[in-house]
Amino acid sequence: MSDQGKPRDTRSATGAGAPAPSDRNSLTIGPDGPILLHDVHFLEQMAHFNREKVPERQPHAKGAGAFGVFETTEDVSTYTRAALFQKGASTEMLARFSTVAGEMGSPDTWRDVRGFSLKFYTSEGNYDLVGNNTPIFFVRDPMKFPHFIRSQKRLPDSGLRDNHMQWDFWTNNPESAHQVTYLMGERGLPRTWRHMNGYGSHTYMWVNASGQKFWVKYHFHTEQGMKFFSNEEAATMAGADADFHRRDLFDAIERGEHPSWVLSVQIMPYADAKTYRINPFDLTKTWPHEDYPLIKVGKMTLNRNPENFFAQIEQAAFSPGNTVPGIGLSPDKMLLGRAFAYNDAQRNRIGTNFHQLPVNQPKVPVNTYMFDGQMAYHHSGNAPVYAPNSGGRPWADETGAMPDGWETDGDMVRSAYTLRSNDDDFGQPGILVREVFNDEQRAKLVDQVAGSLLGGVREPVLSRAFDYWKSVDADVGARIEEKVRQGHASKPAEGMGEG
Ligand code: HEM
Repeated sequence: MSDQGKPRDTRSATGAGAPAPSDRNSLTIGPDGPILLHDVHFLEQMAHFNREKVPERQPHAKGAGAFGVFETTEDVSTYTRAALFQKGASTEMLARFSTVAGEMGSPDTWRDVRGFSLKFYTSEGNYDLVGNNTPIFFVRDPMKFPHFIRSQKRLPDSGLRDNHMQWDFWTNNPESAHQVTYLMGERGLPRTWRHMNGYGSHTYMWVNASGQKFWVKYHFHTEQGMKFFSNEEAATMAGADADFHRRDLFDAIERGEHPSWVLSVQIMPYADAKTYRINPFDLTKTWPHEDYPLIKVGKMTLNRNPENFFAQIEQAAFSPGNTVPGIGLSPDKMLLGRAFAYNDAQRNRIGTNFHQLPVNQPKVPVNTYMFDGQMAYHHSGNAPVYAPNSGGRPWADETGAMPDGWETDGDMVRSAYTLRSNDDDFGQPGILVREVFNDEQRAKLVDQVAGSLLGGVREPVLSRAFDYWKSVDADVGARIEEKVRQGHASKPAEGMGEG
């Protein structure tokens, strides 16, 4: 089958742009002879193939996403001067949804927290909000994060997931109880990504045009309504279609069904944070809505699928450190740890100049003093590479108090947060179980936790797990213990008795 004589644009090329000799036959001595070393095109194909993958995200490896638009429909200029949140602003954006613990090919419908990552290409640079489908998290000190993720992943010897290891971590870190209650409830199995809410989870800062500061929490409520899978449905789907959530989003957008979420925020006056009964920067806590009601901001709609999954989703790089004027971080230690972690992960995962890739590139001109490195594409010609300079290249020179900073004082210590009057690990999960869940949801929670504990959790972790749930709610804890003991009694050989 010869391509010879065909016009140039109908055949493939080498990486250097010359016509490729063949994408079907390697060069051999005679039809049955050995392959020749100077078949450069063949060798280039083999070598590039060996480098096709980049390391998967650690964590949140399995996911997918789509492009869309965020429209600010309300006037929230009292709270922030950020250009994207001014009434009438319309901002192009990218969303990526994911599971946390599963690897790149793992089933979408395994029970897990879901990532809810947003990148807004604003007129003042990219703003990333990298949240989850739950308003809280498992731990409140970033030092614990790598330990947490490893405990949810795989055993060092067998490479298997392990309930014992998960519960060992959770019960040794009782601040996890609120998030574990969410995870073991319905939200641990969203029916699709379109049918789940998203949360910024952390407390962030908003600053208005007069420099006044506020604390803010983000809530994205799905306009498709919340829907969930039962355990049985999710397990069947995990086998039938491991990519169910990825497919659902892509197909919905292809059909012209553009999912949307309404953004509301809770706003806390800056000074309230000092005396509020709950530490407002503790990521394991929510702010009760009766204290800080929801204020509507606008709407996000996903309307465009990626044209190339690798280029636009796998290489997408989100970071909670990417803020814009009018939006800042907060004293939440987790958030401060994250502000470093993501860009560093991406320099390793994608490459030094990941920010120059089209999906990560801001839509505004960039004058940055980061230079060169592997695969540098954008450059500033012969403009000065240092600041200050006499060559007319602008540089930044803010001094004095940071517009989005906060005041702090004290000795350097390694310590948990100072406790406030209503700070404890089990109060809010207890309210979730007793006042938010109904009887049916409580029964499902008992079944789910008991089922998980029966999946190989041994002493002393098992007893700690009973205490953990009795601390969340005495009745639910007792029912979990009873169910697990019954389960062990009917299968005496399994899982008990190791100390
Ligand atoms: C100190 C705590 C944390 C650390 C050090 C951390 C670190 C990381 C790292 C290194 C990645 C992979 C990034 C990449 O390769 O592109 C990641 C992904 C992610 N993390 Fe975290 N994380 C932390 C806590 C959280 C919390 C609290 C949330 C949600 C509220 C969260 C949500 C996500 C999401 C959604 C992704 C996927 C990003 C994407 O879609 O590309 N993480 N995290």
